[in-house]
Amino acid sequence: MRITASAPGKLLLLGDHAVVYDRPCLVTAVDIRYTVSIETRQDTLLTISTPQMRDKGQLYSRSLEDLAAPFPQETAFVEAAVARIFAQFGGGAGLEIVTDGPQISYGLGSSSAVTVATAAALTRLLGHDLKPRQLFDLCYRAVLDVQGTGSGFDVAAAVYGGTLYFVSGGQVIEPLSQFDLPLIIGYSGEKVGTVNLVRSVADLFERYPNLVDPLFNLSQRVVEKGRIALLNSDWAQFGDYMNIHQGILESLGVNTERLSRLIYAARDAGASGAKLSGAGGGDCMFALVDQHAEESVKAALIRAGGQIVDYALHAQGVYFIQD
Ligand code: PMV
Repeated sequence: MRITASAPGKLLLLGDHAVVYDRPCLVTAVDIRYTVSIETRQDTLLTISTPQMRDKGQLYSRSLEDLAAPFPQETAFVEAAVARIFAQFGGGAGLEIVTDGPQISYGLGSSSAVTVATAAALTRLLGHDLKPRQLFDLCYRAVLDVQGTGSGFDVAAAVYGGTLYFVSGGQVIEPLSQFDLPLIIGYSGEKVGTVNLVRSVADLFERYPNLVDPLFNLSQRVVEKGRIALLNSDWAQFGDYMNIHQGILESLGVNTERLSRLIYAARDAGASGAKLSGAGGGDCMFALVDQHAEESVKAALIRAGGQIVDYALHAQGVYFIQD
């Protein structure tokens, strides 16, 4: 029997970095989807095939008997999910795992989506039907096994989908109602490891706790206000909150010149709000636009060196695909 699960990526709307420090954030699931198919093998091997490996005609294979961290970078999130599931539910039969999804992830949550799709498919293959909360807890631990840090907001987006009000580690996971977020996502073309940026903010916090802690408190207030603006579809206010939050991220030292260029280009072309999304240092920014400004903002982002990332938001959380 082969089980296939599909999970979405994410866009962090407000609360970036502060969410690592017990503050809330707002995140929406992005319909950039990653699928994981799993079937059992007759031996005790774990084989993994990713799109990158298939391009090179390669197949990854290891014995399941010594499955433990640290895992190779290319297969780390899949292996961490398998290891967590075997530890929790038992298992050990060989597995053939095939992952699929866009080769460029834009920093929009490929790791968390692959972790969640792997865990959903494997637990079902082993005969367990996990509740979203159980799936979140398991996957969050698997991600921590690989990264050692992170709030879990991306895992929650992959599991629950939609748009969430989320507090570090899943202390609160509150789905917010459906609305049409008028956002345009721009990719900066730069990539920097999330973990390094989380460390750089930790370092700043350690050196200047009395300055950085109030920034996290301010982030919390912006998120609380942003949540209400979202629920009221008050986009003008939400745009202001995005701009204020961008100032916080600038203060935390995670903005870049390239991201700034895209953010100012979007604002100058009529976006009512623009900010980076996630750890910073590169990856994506997004802009809030009225319908009439959509084309001019897209053109301005491209002129400023960005790439438009066109995926639907408020996407469905993990689901199974029939073969
Ligand atoms: O870089 P991303 O998209 O993985 O986002 C990281 C967001 C942080 O708040 C910096 C870290 C976290 O896990 O919440």
